[in-house]
Amino acid sequence: MIEIRNLQKHFVTKDVNVHAVNDVSLKVEEGEIYGIIGYSGAGKSSLVRCINFLEYPESGSITIKGFGTIESDNGVLYRTDGGQKTRIKEKDLRNLRRSIGMIFQLFNLMDRSTVFDNIAYPLKYTGLSKEEIEEKVNKLLKLVDLEEKRDSYPGQLSGGQKQRVAIARALANDPKILLSDEATSALDPDATESILKLLKDLNKQLGITIVLITHEMAVIKQIADKVAVMEDGKVVEEGEVYEIFSDPKAEITRKFVETSSGLEKINKLIENRTVDLNNSDGRKLIKLTFTKDSVGEALISKVSRDYNVDISIVLANVDIVAENALGGIIADISGKPEDVNEALDYISSNGVRVEVIGR
Ligand SMILES: Nc1ncnc2c1ncn2[C@@H]1O[C@H](COP(=O)(O)OP(=O)(O)OP(=O)(O)O)[C@@H](O)[C@H]1O
Ligand SMILES: [Mg+2]
Repeated sequence: MIEIRNLQKHFVTKDVNVHAVNDVSLKVEEGEIYGIIGYSGAGKSSLVRCINFLEYPESGSITIKGFGTIESDNGVLYRTDGGQKTRIKEKDLRNLRRSIGMIFQLFNLMDRSTVFDNIAYPLKYTGLSKEEIEEKVNKLLKLVDLEEKRDSYPGQLSGGQKQRVAIARALANDPKILLSDEATSALDPDATESILKLLKDLNKQLGITIVLITHEMAVIKQIADKVAVMEDGKVVEEGEVYEIFSDPKAEITRKFVETSSGLEKINKLIENRTVDLNNSDGRKLIKLTFTKDSVGEALISKVSRDYNVDISIVLANVDIVAENALGGIIADISGKPEDVNEALDYISSNGVRVEVIGR
């Protein structure tokens, strides 16, 4: 649906030159919810703003299904379909932007217009009749469950309702792609939940492909299928959400995963010495990660019996990631050193990831 190749974007201001997007390549499949996560300044917004060419990259190319490939040559955009390279027309870019919806953290609604008029705004120069616009907006209001707020003004709505209006407006031209830049970051947990649910429903019902930027792993884990982790303009890790959560590779990804899993509490416990880390060879503090294929095994009791070790659970946690369970246990294991090692090998061989932590 969207393929980005070797995209580069710098921002040059008076005294600084920021490499906001540094050689990013990624592929978003049709119908997917593709999350992009990173800390502030990682380049997430710059990257998605290149997808609808609100920003022009300096080099690289973007292919969008139904639209073709656009390549940037020193910031000048060309179409490169069929081996031809022709300068892109402003009209084509406008059409492209119209076929991609976008929603933002602060909604960007027109405060002096009613909900109806906000949603109708993108339909203004499309040649639709007044009746057709009326019908379309009513349909959109229904889709986002705001029929009663049709004549209200944005100032009379809650944050979650404002975002619903923004979503309806973004969908007015029946886009195949929706870009969401921190759409839930200004919302309380309940409103966040309901907007994420709405996005997921729209993705399922309309088959719309969603590219979703966030700095919260909780958002990714709830609705994304795939995730790219960005740091300093680069994608440092990318893949299926469940795979990334169960086995994060990059340091920054581990941090994101920890903060969203509740298991980060263990770091506090270790810091505060609530957990005794007086490790000897025969005693280890371990972290076990149970994935969807290994959850539910009565492994712990079996291992303590068969290998004559003691395992006491310090902290346990089950997370739902991409609609599957992901379990984590922090435990203290003790016994004869060779028994402990054999027990850990046995646990590993059952598809459970074993890490010795805090030594
Ligand atoms: N218009 C601009 N002019 C100058 N520098 C910019 C501009 N837009 C972004 N930058 C810089 O590019 C880098 C990436 O910014 P970007 O907004 O893409 O990050 P982000 O990951 O979206 O961060 P946040 O989570 O804070 O929104 C930052 O260092 C930022 O200061
Ligand atoms: Mg941003």
